[in-house]
Amino acid sequence: MFACLCFAVTDEELDAAIDAGARTEEQVGDTCGAGTGCGSCLDRICARLVRAEPEHGRIPLRVAGRGQRPPDRRCRAG
Ligand code: FES
Repeated sequence: MFACLCFAVTDEELDAAIDAGARTEEQVGDTCGAGTGCGSCLDRICARLVRAEPEHGRIPLRVAGRGQRPPDRRCRAG
C-alpha cells in the first residue's frame, strides 16, 4: 500500500526511512520524498514517526526551506 501517492512511496519504504534514522517529516521527505508534494500524507507519516519515537509531535516542528510546506507546521500527533 502507498503511504505517499505523490511520490509512490510504499509503507515499507516509509518504514525503511524511519528505520534508517528519519525522525521528522522533513527527514522522511529528504530520505524518500514522502510528504514533500501535496502534504496530504503528512499525518500518516507523523503517525509512523510516533511509533518510532513516542515524543515525536510533542515538540513543535520548525520546517524551513521546503517551499511546499508551511514554515511552522506543527505535527498533529502532539
Ligand atoms: S500524498 Fe504524500 S505528498 Fe502528496
